[in-house]
Amino acid sequence: MTASSFKRASRIAAIELSEIVQIQEAAQKKRAEGHDVVALGTGEPDFGTPEHAKDAAIAAMRAEDTKYPKTAGNPPLREAIVEKFRRDNGLALDISNVIASTGAKQVIFNALMATLEPGDEVIMPAPYWTSYSDMVTVCGGVPIVIPCGQDSGFKLTAERLEAAITDKTKWLMLNTPSNPSGAVYDVDEMQALGEVLDRHPQVWLMSDEIYEHLVYASNGFQSAWSILPQLNDRTLIINGVSKSYAMTGWRLGFGVGPAELISAMVVIQGNSTSGASSISQAAAVGALNGPQDLLAERRASFKERRDLVVEGVNACEGLSCVSPPGAFYVFPSCKGVIGKTTPTGQALKDDADFCRYLLDSQALALVPGRAFGVPGYFRISYAYAKSDLEKAMVRLRAGCEALV
Ligand SMILES: Cc1ncc(COP(=O)(O)O)c(C=O)c1O
Repeated sequence: MTASSFKRASRIAAIELSEIVQIQEAAQKKRAEGHDVVALGTGEPDFGTPEHAKDAAIAAMRAEDTKYPKTAGNPPLREAIVEKFRRDNGLALDISNVIASTGAKQVIFNALMATLEPGDEVIMPAPYWTSYSDMVTVCGGVPIVIPCGQDSGFKLTAERLEAAITDKTKWLMLNTPSNPSGAVYDVDEMQALGEVLDRHPQVWLMSDEIYEHLVYASNGFQSAWSILPQLNDRTLIINGVSKSYAMTGWRLGFGVGPAELISAMVVIQGNSTSGASSISQAAAVGALNGPQDLLAERRASFKERRDLVVEGVNACEGLSCVSPPGAFYVFPSCKGVIGKTTPTGQALKDDADFCRYLLDSQALALVPGRAFGVPGYFRISYAYAKSDLEKAMVRLRAGCEALV
């Protein structure tokens, strides 16, 4: 049935499902047609949920922990989150600083919904995680995108931040380690950005640290909350169990920030989901309070996969990438293949054409850089089995070699 009188609200008039979802769907369609598709489009670790997280969820079900949760998150989870920040980040928080939501995505959405007035500006360095700009638009804000290519290590500098701030700037959204570039801001770089924010007290910092456990350098990761203590009264940290503990389907994320902001976010949450699933909350308590050795083991496995992919990409004519220090993505430039012609005579005019060509000719699904605000690049997620990555690299090379 179709509804001829249906009209989308203007806040989503220009927004579609993300290109990542569209590519994943195109790959599934091709697979259903009988093709052996390698799809490296999503950022979903191939590991299982930790056994102790599953056990905690089962125990919660058996104990009838199946009623409405506390809107901000049940106390055992919020206490486990406080403890996580003490253990991993050396921070002393109170549970009034913590909200647990249906995925980190909902934490971000709550924050934007709770704070943006129409026309408020949100600065985001590109490449950014696709949902950032759409979420800002849905919440009535204006995304201010600052392109930061490979030459700047895909990172925002203090000068460029300063130049982008106006009277309407409400948030700076940073993501470190980054999806899709894998870039990680070091302490000096964060401090330089912090100095700019010191001069603009109306600007809040949203630091999305969901990949914090995936930093490959030995000096590890430091949260913005500890690097920039002077900004703690206007910083929101985003995190969750999706990536670190391979628990994407449980939909459990968390945020920490000033109590007033968290309370405002709880109002949004109370009027949308009423809080995260009680069973997922119990699973997250299991993951956060259980043995943590798996984090280092998984990090070592991802590092091997990263090296395999970086080597594979750099062996392809026309492609180049740096070895990213964090997350599980590689973001190569494909500028060297743009303008080339495919065996069927089609000229590749941009990164989207290149990715479409790879899907059509090599049954390889990757995401074009334009989905992250930076055309001329593409993203490979290496959160997949090594055998898939090896197959993907063979296909990528064959696809590049076939271009003239
Ligand atoms: C940078 C970033 N932030 C947040 C999220 C959302 O995480 P969740 O699955 O917990 O909603 C993702 C997921 O891909 C992400 O890459």
